[in-house]
Amino acid sequence: MSAVIDNLVQTLRERAETALARWIPPADTHPARLHQAMRYSALGGGKRVRPVLLYAAGRAMGVPPERLDGPAAAVELIHVYSLIHDDLPAMDDDDLRRGKPTCHKAFDEATAILAGDAMQSLAFLILATDPAMRTDAETRLRMIELLARASGSRGMAGGQAIDLDSVGKALDIAQLENMHVHKTGALIRASVLMGALAAPGSDPVQLDQLDQYAKCIGLAFQIRDDILDVEGETETLGKQKGADQALNKPTYPSIIGLDASRAEAATLVDRALGHLAGFGPDADLLRWIAEYIVRRIH
Ligand code: IPE
Ligand code: IPE
Ligand code: MG
Ligand code: MG
Ligand code: MG
Repeated sequence: MSAVIDNLVQTLRERAETALARWIPPADTHPARLHQAMRYSALGGGKRVRPVLLYAAGRAMGVPPERLDGPAAAVELIHVYSLIHDDLPAMDDDDLRRGKPTCHKAFDEATAILAGDAMQSLAFLILATDPAMRTDAETRLRMIELLARASGSRGMAGGQAIDLDSVGKALDIAQLENMHVHKTGALIRASVLMGALAAPGSDPVQLDQLDQYAKCIGLAFQIRDDILDVEGETETLGKQKGADQALNKPTYPSIIGLDASRAEAATLVDRALGHLAGFGPDADLLRWIAEYIVRRIH
């Protein structure tokens, strides 16, 4: 089964790449420097976890991937925009991302800010207009609402604000969890729900189970990210290891230690898998992603 899923994941990553390459204007489109920066950051890198999750949730609910290319590109655009801004000197001040210079290093700060801004707008343009979604206006609106809530001040952007405000502070575990749930969990949750919502007449009980699954893996994902900052390798990660410690960021390992962080992530994955108990083999990709999230090395 594993080889089949590995191939499927690879195919879905490629689908997401193709969709992004199609939606982001060509590099020679005026203003060319902005479009070059958008393509530089969005294409040819990243694990594409959010698009793959979106396709996987759709698969569990019987939605064909052809209808999900737009939403998959939209969540990845929000994610890449968040990474570009996260790396800016005013935030984490990082020089390396996805194995190459960060957007503001390869271009300049103003272009990096604008590339992020434009990606955010493009994400919502796709959801509002993509004909390949073949869905009704109400479903489009629900997806737009989900993504807007997940990326705004009470989602990802809010989580980033909490992150910046927490530098050098000794957060307790509940505060740390709250920060992670917002800065990373919200977009992961939206990815799953958007894929599932594309199913006509989706069953509310199933949607709720998928939502619970997504909450668990969203938190586990950021715990693993914190662990990798300590025990990963810069070369493999494609970003500088030890960056959290250098900036005195509160993280799971810094607050509860590496072993307890690993145990917490594993518990969350078990809980996530429990929420899929009512699903059949169509949810195997979601199961695979849950396990992948805590064993990944980049
Ligand atoms: C990194 O996200 C930032 C977090 C939210 C933890 P990913 O680990 O998904 O980064 P890419 O997309 O693979 O580069
Ligand atoms: C970033 O968290 C979360 C978002 C970009 C929303 P991190 O700051 O831990 O991500 P990395 O480690 O730089 O990828
Ligand atoms: Mg950060
Ligand atoms: Mg960062
Ligand atoms: Mg990190």
